[in-house]
Amino acid sequence: MLGNYFLINGKFLAVDSFEKKEADINVYEVMRVIDGIPLFLREHISRLLHSIQLSKRVFEIDKKELGKDIVQLCKKNEIEEGNIMVKVMFSSDNVTVLVHFIEHFYPSLSNYTKGVSVGLLKAKRINPKAKIINHTVRDLANNEIRTSKSYEVLLVDEQNEIREGSRSNFFGIKDGKLYTAPLNLVLKGITLSKVIAIAKSNKIEICYKPIPVSVLSNFDAAFLSGTSPKILPISAIDSTTFDVKNALLLKIMNAYDELVCSDIKRYISLLK
Ligand code: PDD
Repeated sequence: MLGNYFLINGKFLAVDSFEKKEADINVYEVMRVIDGIPLFLREHISRLLHSIQLSKRVFEIDKKELGKDIVQLCKKNEIEEGNIMVKVMFSSDNVTVLVHFIEHFYPSLSNYTKGVSVGLLKAKRINPKAKIINHTVRDLANNEIRTSKSYEVLLVDEQNEIREGSRSNFFGIKDGKLYTAPLNLVLKGITLSKVIAIAKSNKIEICYKPIPVSVLSNFDAAFLSGTSPKILPISAIDSTTFDVKNALLLKIMNAYDELVCSDIKRYISLLK
């Protein structure tokens, strides 16, 4: 836990008074803070509520109050850049809402210009559309990332098809079209939904199709989308290499950065 304060059930407490608790199921969100403002706040809170529904739990959250608390948490901690975790912890007899800053790892400038290498991992997220902590997949992914010295691993299912990264979504590019897994099989990333919006306004086609590992070499380019990576070019998946200067990829990277800037500016103007 980073910062001086965290938030528990709507109350701000000093970080050194934090007591770790286990829960039966943790529904969560990770959002990025830029210039002291939580990026795409409304979208993250809506997805949190959707994940609670998908996990078949019933718990009322006041969206506006939670949003205000998150903004207040940024201010109280005086943190301008970082990541915040919002966790709704369900136990047999109670529910706890915990919000705090966590460690973040953002790609370097050279990761954006030269791309990153990515590995493959046979693993499956249960209830893939919901953002629920899954320690087994996380531990397997961390282990593979460490041993293969890659930036991320792509999760491959029983059919040998790629679904998404362990904490990102995956896109391939071929002949000016985007390819990604069917949305019912993955977590619909907030970043992915921005890629969809960019594609729509630029008349770029997206094919939502299973992506067998065997067709990877047909792609001209490939990228990850996610809160921390933003739009990050992939230079290689195992031994298959990709063009990190693909025109469509560069266009999506720029368009996404513009969306980020306008969301932060919009929020700052609301606060004035
Ligand atoms: N992970 N797929 C999975 C399995 C994820 O865990 C994430 C995000 C994404 C991308 O979602 P978004 O664009 O909203 O970040 C896709 C977060 C950041 C994490 O667990 O740290």
